[in-house]
Amino acid sequence: MREEVRTIVNRYGKDRAFLVSILQDIQARYNYLPKDILLEVAEELHISPSLIFSVTTFYKAFSLTPRGKHIVSVCLGTACHVRGAPKILDTLERTLAIKPGQTTKNNQFTLETVNCVGACAVGPIIIMDGEYHGQMTLSKAGSVIGSVKAKEGTCS
Ligand code: FES
Repeated sequence: MREEVRTIVNRYGKDRAFLVSILQDIQARYNYLPKDILLEVAEELHISPSLIFSVTTFYKAFSLTPRGKHIVSVCLGTACHVRGAPKILDTLERTLAIKPGQTTKNNQFTLETVNCVGACAVGPIIIMDGEYHGQMTLSKAGSVIGSVKAKEGTCS
């Protein structure tokens, strides 16, 4: 078992009751839940891998596929949709050269769609790493990505 995985599991006293917390910590470390690590966790907690995989698929926050360092979500709920969210999604797809559910080759950005985040009054809205950006326009969408790239010093 990897030392960092052992550290996370030990943090919770190897108690299976803390499985969700353990998985959250692992996802925070790797940006997703690698299959080989989940198998190690199952062994360490003496539970079946199928139980772990059922938990990971139940909670939408967990990802079994690699995710980028930055998560960009576009709301496609009704209020945002009628205010132009699909065009904003198109812009982000072209800017990042990925489709929703995909991650850029440099693992910097993952593009996702969501349905109504409860901020309809300021839609259309995108969420960048948990921060809401309302009254979104095509040019503002590019700026949000550009400012993150500028901070990171990345160009794709
Ligand atoms: S529809 Fe987008 S926040 Fe409600």
